Order: sequence, then C-alpha cells, then structure tokens
Amino acid sequence: MSDSLVVQGGTPLSGTVAVGGAKNAALKHMVAALMAPGRHQIENVPEILDVEIMGRVLEHVGALCRRDGKTLTIDVPEHPIPEAPLELVRQMRASILVLGALLARTGEARVALPGGDDFGSRPIDFHIEGLEAMGATFDLRHGVLYGAAPDGLVGTDVFLEFPSVGATENLLLAAVLAKGVTTIGNAAREPELVDLAQYLGSMGAKIDGAGTSTIEIHGVEGLTAASHRTVPDRLEAGTYLVAAAMTAGTVTVSDCRPEHLRMELRKLTAAGCEITTSATSVTLTGPERPVALDISTLPYPGFHTDMHPQMVTLLSVAEGTSLVTENIYAGRFRYLGELNRMGAEIHADGQHVVIRGVTQLSGCEVDACDIRAGAALTIAALRAEGETVIRDAHHLDRGYDGWVPKLASLGADIRRV
Ligand code: UD1
Repeated sequence: MSDSLVVQGGTPLSGTVAVGGAKNAALKHMVAALMAPGRHQIENVPEILDVEIMGRVLEHVGALCRRDGKTLTIDVPEHPIPEAPLELVRQMRASILVLGALLARTGEARVALPGGDDFGSRPIDFHIEGLEAMGATFDLRHGVLYGAAPDGLVGTDVFLEFPSVGATENLLLAAVLAKGVTTIGNAAREPELVDLAQYLGSMGAKIDGAGTSTIEIHGVEGLTAASHRTVPDRLEAGTYLVAAAMTAGTVTVSDCRPEHLRMELRKLTAAGCEITTSATSVTLTGPERPVALDISTLPYPGFHTDMHPQMVTLLSVAEGTSLVTENIYAGRFRYLGELNRMGAEIHADGQHVVIRGVTQLSGCEVDACDIRAGAALTIAALRAEGETVIRDAHHLDRGYDGWVPKLASLGADIRRV
C-alpha cells in the first residue's frame, strides 16, 4: 500500500523555505550528459524519484551515476548502449529525450514509447518530424521506436507547429553534434531550456538564441564532459507561494529566480496577495479571501500548465467566479473531482474550468493522481476544516524534494503515514 499524507488544516504558513534545483532541468541535464564521454558533475539536483528513475535509464545506457547530497556525478562511456527499456520509460516521459541524444551520439536509438503523468494523449510527432528532417528514419515495432541515422544527422531548418518544450530539447540535443547548421523556429523559451543550452555550451556546443523563438545550432565534431549547476525550480517556488496564499500566511521563498515567475506572480497579485521580491527571493502575504480571476495556461512566459492545479485550488475559495483555460494539457482535470469532494464548486467544460468560490473547504480522503494534483490537494488540505488524507503520496515524491518537512517547517500540521 502506498503512503498517504495526513493534514490538519487551518494554520497559516509562515517562515522561509528554500527551493532546490528544477526537476524539469535536472532530468534533461542527465540526458544531455550522454552527449560527451567522461565525467560530468551536476549540482543542485533535487532528491526526487524522477531523478532516480532517470539514473536507471542512464545506467541502462552504460553510464554510472553517483549522488553525493545534491551533486550528481555521471560517468559517460565512449560507446553508450542506444536503448531505453519500457519498464523505465513508461514511468517517466522525460526519458523520450534519449532519442535525440542517442541518435546524435551513436547513429541509432531504440526507445520504448513514453508514459509519465496521466494527462491523456502526450504525442511526440513534433520530435519525430524534426529528427526525420535531420535525416533520421523511424520504425515503430511492438511499442518500441527504432531510430537510425547511420551516416549521422544533418543540420536543417525545423519550424515547430507549437513551441513544445520536449521537442525543442530533443532537437537541440540532436543538433549539437549534427553536420552543419540547424535552426529551430517557434522554439520553446523556457528557463530550463536556456539552462540546458548553457550546460551544452560548457561542453563545447555552439548554440545561439536559447530563450528566444529561434535557436541556431552550429554542429561540432565532439563535446567534452563538463560541470553545471541546475537552475532553481520555479514550479516548486510557485507551489509554496500558492500554499502561503491559500492559508493567508506570510512566506518567503528563497534561492529562487523571481523573473522566471512573472506571470504567476502577476496572477497571485491580482488574487489579492501582497508580494515583494529580491533578486533571489519572493515574500508573499495571502489575503483572508482571494479575489476571483481568469487565467489561461500558455507556453513560457505565459502562465505555466504545471501551476494550474495549485491556482485552481486557491481560486476555489475566492470571492466570485473564476475561469481557468488549460491550453497545454486539457486532460489534466482528474483532480477536480477530489477538490469537489472537499466542498469546492468547480466544473470543467472542454479545456475550460469554471470555479465558483466557496467560503470553506472541508477535509476528507482524496487521491493524488499526479505530481501537481498531489500538490494542489495538499494546498487545499492546508486551509480545509478538519483532517484530509491524501492517498498515493508517491506522486509527490516524483517532483517535490522534502515536501512534508518543508511544509512542516512553515508550521503546517502534516505527516506521512
Ligand atoms: C510540458 C511543459 C513544460 C514542463 C513539462 C514537464 C509547456 C508548454 N510544456 O512540457 O513546461 O517542463 O511539461 O511537466 O508548458 N505536443 C504535440 N506533439 C509533440 C509534442 C507536444 O502535439 O510532439 C503538444 C502536447 O500535446 C501539448 C503541447 O504540445 O499540448 C506542449 O507539449 P510540450 O511542451 O512538448 O510538453 P512537455 O515537453 O511535456
């Protein structure tokens, strides 16, 4: 039986919490390490389950991973095994990135099709089309994608239909060792992608324009192993800020990059929160009752899809009716039923969520169905009257390093059973 979290609601959070390195950057760095043989060192790596799973993917490929606190040392062999097995890939979608990395390094890749959070369909057609334009061929047999580029990948112009983060990253990895110049148009602009480009840059890759919509990559013959420090986790930071807002508390989130949370901070301000920032911290005081507002999730620098469940939870107790439109993953609404069991009045229609604010939530037994849903339900529980039991807490272990101790240090009455 999986662990549960037991939360007694009603205590305003207060104090300071430090955020760690970004999950969505560290996982990509681990794959990027495969691009250069030798010893890599990645610092500020969160101690979460997804990093462990990615470590197993790397070990399958022939790399050795060692963790010392928040530092990960990865020894990458001269000739990686170009294969990622189903039992690992199905647990974590980020592993699809090995496709671009292994094709570039070895000219072949056998990758089981990915799983990950249950958000309905999460296609990889943009990844495949881009890699095909660079000269790779693909064949899907028995759930395994066989990729080949025996003569190496060749740089070209790729224009993405949507600024997909995963597709941009996969093409970036493929392009750094391709022959000639690759241009990725309509590229994702996320801070984690910029961080990945910086790490590849310290290995010797030639990348211009990361963080803008057009990335130009000049392929090089080979890369050398390097060290890198992972960018702070803007989603972890944002989650603690919403938790503070929900409990009408005052919390400082330190070791973060407020400029990566501009849209999220704007919306929290509109909800009635008082916010001050320094270069590396955000202090938020939550209102007694939030103000209703409308939000649309969009690619960066828009409001992040991975902050949607937390924000819907905050708006569930707002004064008035809010509308949240999910433009990235319309399938991520399973947690709404659980929030409604706690007394929220929310309904989804297509990609839209209508939230009629209620004055109070009440604790009961709920199921976390993915990482951010688990965070959202914990946030609801922190304000709810009475006790909430959040089952399937292992989902939180995938994305939040020290979720329970960090919340407890802010005064939350929370324990794991
Ligand atoms: C998403 C988030 C990213 C976050 C990551 C981990 C966005 C835009 N992306 O990235 O910030 O770090 O989850 O939680 O917020 N799509 C296709 N075909 C493809 C690839 C994507 O149709 O080949 C569609 C997806 O269905 C989705 C959209 O494009 O609607 C964005 O997908 P993408 O950015 O690739 O998602 P992730 O890489 O999972």
